[in-house]
Amino acid sequence: MIPLTLRVNGRERRVLVEPRQSLLRVLRDELGLTGAKEGCHRGECGSCTVLMDGVPLYACMTLAPEAEGREITTVEGLLDGEALGPVQDAFAEHDAFQCGFCTSGQIVAVEGLLRANPQPSLEEIRTGVSGNLCRCGAYPNIFRAAGRAAELRAGRGGDS
Ligand code: FES
Ligand code: FES
Repeated sequence: MIPLTLRVNGRERRVLVEPRQSLLRVLRDELGLTGAKEGCHRGECGSCTVLMDGVPLYACMTLAPEAEGREITTVEGLLDGEALGPVQDAFAEHDAFQCGFCTSGQIVAVEGLLRANPQPSLEEIRTGVSGNLCRCGAYPNIFRAAGRAAELRAGRGGDS
């Protein structure tokens, strides 16, 4: 076991973990942040997506020690105080889910896309969430929600 200090959603968190442990397992099992979902745990579905220094990645394919010294943001970190953040709001507004299992990963992927490209085209949105599978096929509403999220973020002045 090794001690790690992780910075997650703006807070320093100390954990004792096996070096082979994935960031996803540490977030969920050690820190109680269950927004990132474990779908495949082998880099295929995107349900575990988090931001590392603002860039989306699969937490299941990231070793926890690799996250030390980086800024990790999970879907819980996209709240605006007690209220939904703009990307979360847009997903609710456009009913961009069915079972919801992929949703937190989709929201984080859209947040990462909009941080890099605040006004994406439809094609850029499609590419931005292409690493996030939705077995329910909610894609049309996800794409609409991403476009709406860009508007909401612009109105609220930037990052969620
Ligand atoms: S759980 Fe990480 S990509 Fe599927
Ligand atoms: S809403 Fe069910 S997997 Fe996407």
